Amino acid sequence: MRQAGRYLPEYQKLRDKHSLKELFTNSDLATAVTLMPIQQIGFDAAILFSDILILSLSMGLSLEFIEGSGPVVSPQIQNKGDILRLKNEIEQLGFVKQTIVNLKKELKVPLIGFCGGPFTVASYLIGDLKKTKKWIYEDPDSFELLLDKISDLSCQYLQSQIDAGVDAIQIFDSWAGFLSEDLLKRFSFNFIKKICAKITKVPIIIFMRNSCFYAKELSSLGCKAISCDWFLDLSHIRKQVGNQVALQGNFDPDFLYGSKEKILEMTLDLQHKMKGDKGWIVNLGHGIKPDTDVEKVKWFVQIIQQEK
Ligand code: CP3
Repeated sequence: MRQAGRYLPEYQKLRDKHSLKELFTNSDLATAVTLMPIQQIGFDAAILFSDILILSLSMGLSLEFIEGSGPVVSPQIQNKGDILRLKNEIEQLGFVKQTIVNLKKELKVPLIGFCGGPFTVASYLIGDLKKTKKWIYEDPDSFELLLDKISDLSCQYLQSQIDAGVDAIQIFDSWAGFLSEDLLKRFSFNFIKKICAKITKVPIIIFMRNSCFYAKELSSLGCKAISCDWFLDLSHIRKQVGNQVALQGNFDPDFLYGSKEKILEMTLDLQHKMKGDKGWIVNLGHGIKPDTDVEKVKWFVQIIQQEK
C-alpha cells in the first residue's frame, strides 16, 4: 500500500508539477507512477496508482484532495434524496481502463486493481465516521440503500478493471474495522460478500484495519486472501483461519524506520514463523510512511527475494 507515493523522490518531483487529482486521472501520469516502484525497487507485483474515492466521479460528485487532510467529496450525501440522485456513469472512469491497458504492455509482474469497501466509500461520501455512525443509528435502511448503490457501481468498476487486464483485486474497507461487531457484519461484511460473489474471474484480497481480529470471518466472505495488520502474529492468524485463504502482511510500516540489521532480524523472524506456508504474501500491514528511507524499502524487498 502506497507502493508508489511520497517516499519516492521521483514521485515527489512529479507532485511538484501536477496535482494529485491530475496524477490519478491522467492515464500517462498514472501509468508512470505505477511503474516507478517496480522499476526502482523491484516489487513482485504492481498496484494500480489510483484512489478508492475516484469512484465518486462516476456518481456525478466532485472530488478534491486537500493537502494534509485527504480526500473531500462534494456535495456531501446527507439524506435519502441525495442517494437517489447519485448517478451511475462508470464510463466516466475510462482513464482507469486506459491506465491498465498501458500498464499491461509494460509490466512483467502481476497488476493489482482495487476499489474501496462500500462502507468506507460511504463514510467519505457522507463526510466522516462520526456523521456516518449517526446516520446508521438514525436510519439504517437508507444507509443500506447507499451501500447497495456503491456496491453495484463497485462491481461494474471492478469488472471494467478486469476486462482491461488486472490480475487480482484488492478491496480496501479501511474504516469498517472501527464498527462494533454487529454493525460490521451488517454494513461491511454483507456487502463485501456480495461483491466477492459477483467478481469471480480474478482472486480478491480484502483489506480492513483491525483485520487481525476478524480474520476468520473475513476468510468466509469469498475472498482468496486477507491483508492483515500487525496487531497479531501472522502465524497465530494462520492457525485461526486454516488453509482456505492466503494471508498478506503483516509488518508494521514503522518497522522500516529501524536499522538495516533490525529490519533483517525482524524479516527473518517472521519468515521463520511462516516457514513452509504456501499462502503467504509478504507485505506491510498498511501504507508505507512518506518519510521512509527508500534504501530501507529496497533492503526489505531484497531480503525477501533472496529467501524465496
Ligand atoms: O500504492 C497504492 O497503494 C495504490 C494507490 C492507492 C492510493 N490510495 C493512492 C494515494 C490506494 C490503494 C489507495 C487506497 C485508499 N485511499 C484508502 C484505503 C487504504 C488505506 O490507506 O486505508 C483510503 C482510505 C484512501 C483515501 C485517501 N487517499 C486518503 C485518506 C489520502 C490521504 C493520505 C495521505 O497520506 O495524505 C489519500 C491520498 C492518496 N491516495 C495518496 C496516495 C499515494 C497520498 C499522495 C500524496 O499526498 O502525494
